[in-house]
Amino acid sequence: MSKQFQHDVLVIGSGAAGLTLALRIADCCVDSSNQDVRIAVLCKSDPTEASTYFAQGGIAAVLDSNDTVESHISDTLTSGAGLCHEDAVRFTVEHSKQAINWLIEQGVEFTRDEAPGKSKDFHLTQEGGHSHRRIIHAADATGKAVSNTLISKVLARDNIELFDHRLAVDLITQDGRCNGAYVLNRSSGSVDTFQAKFVVVATGGASKTYLYTSNPDGNSGDGIAMAWRAGCRVANMEFNQFHPTCLYHPAAKSFLITEAIRGEGGLLKLPNGERFMHKFDSREELAPRDIVARAIDHEMKRLGSDCVYLDISHKDPDFIQNHFPTVSARCAELGIDISKEAIPVVPAAHYTCGGIIVDKQGKTDIHNLHAIGEATFTGLHGANRMASNSLLECLVYARSTADSIVSQLKSTPAPAPVAPWDESQVTDSDEDVIISHNWDELRRFMWDYVGIVRTDKRLQRALRRTQLLKQEIGEYYSNYKVSSDLIELRNLIVVAELIIRSAMQRKESRGLHYTLDYPELQAEGRDTILEPENYCAN
Ligand code: FAD
Ligand code: SIN
Repeated sequence: MSKQFQHDVLVIGSGAAGLTLALRIADCCVDSSNQDVRIAVLCKSDPTEASTYFAQGGIAAVLDSNDTVESHISDTLTSGAGLCHEDAVRFTVEHSKQAINWLIEQGVEFTRDEAPGKSKDFHLTQEGGHSHRRIIHAADATGKAVSNTLISKVLARDNIELFDHRLAVDLITQDGRCNGAYVLNRSSGSVDTFQAKFVVVATGGASKTYLYTSNPDGNSGDGIAMAWRAGCRVANMEFNQFHPTCLYHPAAKSFLITEAIRGEGGLLKLPNGERFMHKFDSREELAPRDIVARAIDHEMKRLGSDCVYLDISHKDPDFIQNHFPTVSARCAELGIDISKEAIPVVPAAHYTCGGIIVDKQGKTDIHNLHAIGEATFTGLHGANRMASNSLLECLVYARSTADSIVSQLKSTPAPAPVAPWDESQVTDSDEDVIISHNWDELRRFMWDYVGIVRTDKRLQRALRRTQLLKQEIGEYYSNYKVSSDLIELRNLIVVAELIIRSAMQRKESRGLHYTLDYPELQAEGRDTILEPENYCAN
């Protein structure tokens, strides 16, 4: 039996972006005596099953008196390879300190500097592309500290309801306005209707499109696909960031080895122990991610090796244990003592730089639909996100979007009720193998043909395959009851096609998009913008 829910704000996603927005709206409403405002936050499994929870390195912000806003802006622009929107970069960086102070007020316990003679200020680490130490962190489990704190704050609020194991299937739009979403209750199997004055997509990225990824299982680009189907434009979907160092071990699924290890002196080595980054960039191990990932890919292909190695074993074992307890423990479980030996690593899909086009208030192309976090394109990251700028973007844009929504809440009427989800024409699926087979096929050809190094031919091959899969899954979706896997696969195919079509439009190599057919950089950098009306079948 499907249910109907009515709230003022529906937030789809419980990562840093969604939780920050929900708390900020709740706080602003208390301040403005608008206390009866009701907010729903949805997440597709447990609230911690989000990239945010697994973030390791930290959050970039201008916190040190020797650092400057101009320097953080300049580093971000350099990493972004000529495509960052400078106004978005400035907006984000100028609000960085405020965003971190808010997290500290919420109770996030960031690591303090314990070095003798230091004033117990927060310890700031360094990562690729940054010319200063400016990454505030909670050891190597920053995301866990942020998530746990924000989730506990949300659970303590009477006017925020957290609905877990709820998977949004599609947005509901009427007369050009978004007023809710159809949502699968994964426990009961029913598809419920959630309606609200404002809907906020905070569903994270789409790295699950690739076979090897650092991301948790749910990152199937649902929000991007839903917004696209509803009529929103997307930008720069070709820029998929591959993190250079994920653990290479048969028993280790999706485990990241934080870039902060390189920031604290970790060295990349070939299987014979030789260093190689100096051959690719004068910044060596601390070059931006696109350069390091490509260098590793090049060396692995040249030598036919399965991985390269990241070595921090020359540092003091206590330092390693204190700064990298999570990485040390996970490696130890697999028999690798990182204080004595190098860690086998490979690049893996990590971050979606493109997404739903939004402005500084998170507004999309559709009235009353906002989007924040990794699902969006704000212009901050350009052709290559600089390390630890993502959580910062989540916080800054969640706060500005919340303020914008709060200012419109009183004057916005509640939406008229819509028809419930119609299941009268579908039956139970009898061949789920089609879904699992297509999941695997899609992620494998995306890895092989649309990965770190691309060519026109590979992209064309990949596009042909998405067309076949899209047709097959479209038929399946029309005839059978929805399941989580089917919904995610339907979204993955949309996102894969957006990535491929965007990559095909870019006739140059820039940042994270590298193609053997156009190895040069064009003089003028342009965003790739796709509009739904130009593609008939979604
Ligand atoms: P997420 O945190 O991914 O949350 C998405 C939410 O949306 C989840 O709650 C999910 O359940 C929900 N959702 C998705 N689809 C649906 C649906 N259909 N219906 C209902 N709910 C849905 N960035 C940094 O800045 N610093 C770091 O140190 C860092 N380390 C990282 C380490 C790892 C291993 C990974 C994977 C990423 C890291 N990143 C880091 C990137 C950063 O963590 C993410 O970009 C950021 O957390 C994204 O936050 P978000 O709120 O947009 O989405
Ligand atoms: C890491 O810790 O290496 C991840 C940082 C990021 O993705 O910003």
